[in-house]
Amino acid sequence: MSTPDAASAGAGATPARTPFDLPDVSGLVVGVLGGTGPQGRGLAYRLAKAGQQVIIGSRSAERAAAAAAELGHGVEGADNASTAARADIVIVAVPWEGHGELLAALRTELAGKIVVDCVNPLGFDKQGAYALKPEEGSAAQQAAALLPESRVTAAFHHLSAVLLEDREVEEIDIDVLVLGEERAATDTVQALANRIPGMRGVFAGRLRNAHQVESLVANLISVNRRYKAHAGLRITDV
Ligand SMILES: NC(=O)c1ccc[n+]([C@@H]2O[C@H](COP(=O)([O-])OP(=O)(O)OC[C@H]3O[C@@H](n4cnc5c(N)ncnc54)[C@H](OP(=O)(O)O)[C@@H]3O)[C@@H](O)[C@H]2O)c1
Repeated sequence: MSTPDAASAGAGATPARTPFDLPDVSGLVVGVLGGTGPQGRGLAYRLAKAGQQVIIGSRSAERAAAAAAELGHGVEGADNASTAARADIVIVAVPWEGHGELLAALRTELAGKIVVDCVNPLGFDKQGAYALKPEEGSAAQQAAALLPESRVTAAFHHLSAVLLEDREVEEIDIDVLVLGEERAATDTVQALANRIPGMRGVFAGRLRNAHQVESLVANLISVNRRYKAHAGLRITDV
């Protein structure tokens, strides 16, 4: 079974799913580690605007409180550990360089939580962006290795923080690829993505395939530079 079609044919009599057969996540608290950066602030803004309760985390509670006040829509700020402890779903939005150390320190707070890794391990040189090769395979797999009691997923890699933060932009036109080992967890993350107008969560496999998804951001950065765009992705025929 080498083609995508052949693989789906193997599903036999299983009825087709739509990316909208999903749980209600409106009551869940979302925490964002590294929520003072553009990606964290942008996601926090969009989710809070859609009615989700959101806490942004930081290494400094004061920085988090200041960023939360600017975001409005009821967003709260706290240090990363309190954010992880209080949230039901925790988005990891720190640079790759700080990823492993932060998650290792929060193992207890993140136990039992759905963790959503959106970290893209990239390098930059004169030729542009390129994908790094984490020892564990991907940032998401590093998270899963460091957080054995958490429900680790990967999503939100291909978003433009510029668009997320732009208050003139009403809809974010993108499919969010959601990866993970556990279907209930990936369904929850898909449903979270679906809360944001224009955005759709699409299941895209297990964490062993996260490397390609994280790496594709290097290609999107090339597109953006060539065409002065904020490129995103759509999956057809789903
Ligand atoms: N920017 C985008 O368009 C975009 C899109 C998709 C995915 N992503 C991914 O999202 C992540 C965050 O992106 P970003 O552009 O928002 O990054 P960023 O601004 O460089 O970092 C986000 C926040 O992380 C905290 N931080 C910085 N270094 C840290 C360290 N060593 N350990 C722990 N925390 C640290 C900082 O918050 P405090 O100083 O307040 O702690 C910072 O405000 C990245 O991994 C990126 O690959 C970004």
